[in-house]
Amino acid sequence: MASMATSGRVVLVSDDVVGPRWADPLRERLQAAGKQVTAVVLGAGEEHKTLASVERIWEAALDAQVDRGGAVLGVGGGVICDLSGFAASTLLRGVPVGHVPTTLLAMVDAAIGGKTGFDTRHGKNLIGSFHQPKFVLCDIDVLSTLAEGERRSGLAEVVKSAWIEGEAAVAQLERDAVALLAGEPEPTARAIRMAASLKARVVTEDERESGARAVLNLGHTVGHAIEASSGYRDIRHGEAVSLGMVAAFRLASKLGVVSATDVERAVRLLGALGLPTDVGPHLHQGVLSFIGSDKKRRSEGITFVVPSEPGRVDLRPLPLHEVFDLLR
Ligand SMILES: NC(=O)c1ccc[n+]([C@@H]2O[C@H](COP(=O)([O-])OP(=O)(O)OC[C@H]3O[C@@H](n4cnc5c(N)ncnc54)[C@H](O)[C@@H]3O)[C@@H](O)[C@H]2O)c1
Ligand SMILES: [Zn+2]
Repeated sequence: MASMATSGRVVLVSDDVVGPRWADPLRERLQAAGKQVTAVVLGAGEEHKTLASVERIWEAALDAQVDRGGAVLGVGGGVICDLSGFAASTLLRGVPVGHVPTTLLAMVDAAIGGKTGFDTRHGKNLIGSFHQPKFVLCDIDVLSTLAEGERRSGLAEVVKSAWIEGEAAVAQLERDAVALLAGEPEPTARAIRMAASLKARVVTEDERESGARAVLNLGHTVGHAIEASSGYRDIRHGEAVSLGMVAAFRLASKLGVVSATDVERAVRLLGALGLPTDVGPHLHQGVLSFIGSDKKRRSEGITFVVPSEPGRVDLRPLPLHEVFDLLR
């Protein structure tokens, strides 16, 4: 908290799953340190990533007369990162935010990069802002209460990051796979450090996603389409991203930009981390039409993130019909 140098009140945002276990002890410590804290406990899960939740943060902050010297502190998964970040960016036209991410996904992805927002009936993350956190504090002890499926889902983003990062990171993940899957702290901390610093570096080069930042969407074009066509119910984000990565590698292979050995290597690594890789059955017409409606689509073309060897991932504009042909 010291680095946030906040003189005023802290608005501590969490959800009803994380709050009692991880936010309450933090609140007590902040209060013991003389901070005035207002706790906001939202409903847990994506269905609460709404304007109504943002309003609850705004109202609680204003009721407590937070001023520009105050700060918002989000303790939770990606949903809490996005909501607390957005509320902070708009509260009094912007107060500082800090994140204590409590899911692996939030540690390696959602807490970093400054994208905030919430969902509407029109879709996910369509309203939001850029608001960089003053700090992100990852304490891997909190992952001890996270469901195994959630942890595995976060590992998909770790594989993505390693492939963008390069050979050493991929080889390290291959060595750590078994221990990572078991949730051992040392390889987990190593993976978080690699993925979080990769994201921070990419985002620093391209804060507003005009170009380079888009490499972080590796596996996400098809992944998002698989999630969307299932109504965001039957599949976790990381599982969809894993399938999306397999699709991207296959597409890259048909374009001749990745070797069969590297495709096999990526698929094996995802599988070793307990992630699904059998993308074939998912590439039905429903999923393909969602790719066509991807918000990153530009007229009839799409910028597809195409992987080559570790450390080389390119953005390639492709006509939609070609993407469909390559995926089929
Ligand atoms: N802003 C960004 O750059 C960015 C990047 C990636 C994802 N996101 C967003 O992040 C969200 C997904 O994040 P998520 O996967 O963390 O989901 P989440 O925040 O919904 O958390 C998943 C579930 O795990 C619970 N939980 C969290 N931490 C826990 C812990 N330590 N122990 C036990 N339970 C715990 C939560 O209460 C929730 O029920 C999506 O809304 C996505 O859009 C944002
Ligand atoms: Zn993702």
